[in-house]
Amino acid sequence: MNEIKHKKRIFSGVQPTGNLHIGNYLGAVKNFVKFQSAGNETLYCIVDLHAITVWQDPEELRNSIRELAATFVACGLDSNKSILFNQSQVSSHSELAWVFNCVTRVGWLNRMTQFKDKAGKNKENASVGLYIYPSLMAADILAYHATHVPVGEDQKQHLELTRDIATKFNNDYKVPNFFPCPEPIIEKTSPRIMSLRDGSKKMSKSETSDMSRINLTDVSDQIALKIRKAKTDQDPIPEDISGLASRPEASNLINIYSSFKECDVQEVLNDFSGKPFSFFKPKLTEVIINEIKPISKKINDLLKNPDQIDDVMNNGAQKASEISSPIIDSTFKILGLKK
Ligand code: AMP
Ligand code: TRP
Repeated sequence: MNEIKHKKRIFSGVQPTGNLHIGNYLGAVKNFVKFQSAGNETLYCIVDLHAITVWQDPEELRNSIRELAATFVACGLDSNKSILFNQSQVSSHSELAWVFNCVTRVGWLNRMTQFKDKAGKNKENASVGLYIYPSLMAADILAYHATHVPVGEDQKQHLELTRDIATKFNNDYKVPNFFPCPEPIIEKTSPRIMSLRDGSKKMSKSETSDMSRINLTDVSDQIALKIRKAKTDQDPIPEDISGLASRPEASNLINIYSSFKECDVQEVLNDFSGKPFSFFKPKLTEVIINEIKPISKKINDLLKNPDQIDDVMNNGAQKASEISSPIIDSTFKILGLKK
């Protein structure tokens, strides 16, 4: 087979499990919009098959899928510029995932920290789906021969696994570069956003306390309360970054501010050094509300018209399928499953 030259194609996915929070926004969706605006070919997927790796109430899942679609659009994703769709509506994802389950080694999956975090102490009782989740993620990306994947820092390990799967498939079946080795795009200005209650845990949709995160649908009063109650320490804001060492909660609030402002942490420290967090917190609240308020309003408006959201997603699934079906066809031919 002749070596394939892959054109730049951007793919990313988000799980429809509850409201998106500012970690998802700063670590992922905000960047999705930037890439779309830069004239790239972009596919953004609601990864509902990943969501069911842990039990979901069907009615809630249906609503969460719509809510996420509305959130994508409210944050600025445009179905005329990007392909927006649901994973479960395009069969290529599951088909390729099975192939990759046969390429991925058990030892590789055993190293995945997200599985260890999510399965917790009760590993024996975790679903097999949760364990092989990264192989479905590789299929999401490689079913489109995507070359670039904007994600939060926490997904780097899954991207490395995707590259290992692509390389092993290409080597095992002697099809050099059939699957590209996709690059993660992790923006420097989007650090991992941590819980507002515990600076050692990432901000997460699944954390039981809603006070630990700021959701994109929170109203201004909720945002103000959550920031006011956010954990910090007694010390003032330091002059330079070394003064944030071993101060995870303080670092987190400064990081959130710098991410929203799209500036360096040092610039924030220059503006606030010596000030107590009681001074900084109202400023942070204002910065967050300015950006989040119009988004939450748009989400609510869009949700009043669910048929319209469903149309956008169905349309997207059709376009996605047109790209992935020929790639699955070629994959099956390579494997000897098809003439
Ligand atoms: P998930 O909600 O786990 O499906 O994540 C969706 C996207 O948001 C992924 O690209 C994640 O890397 C990103 N993300 C999730 N949580 C955080 C966080 N606390 N900080 C930064 N990025 C995050
Ligand atoms: N695993 C990702 C997360 O938890 C979501 C995801 C699934 C994804 N498939 C993907 C991200 C493909 C990028 C590309 O955030």
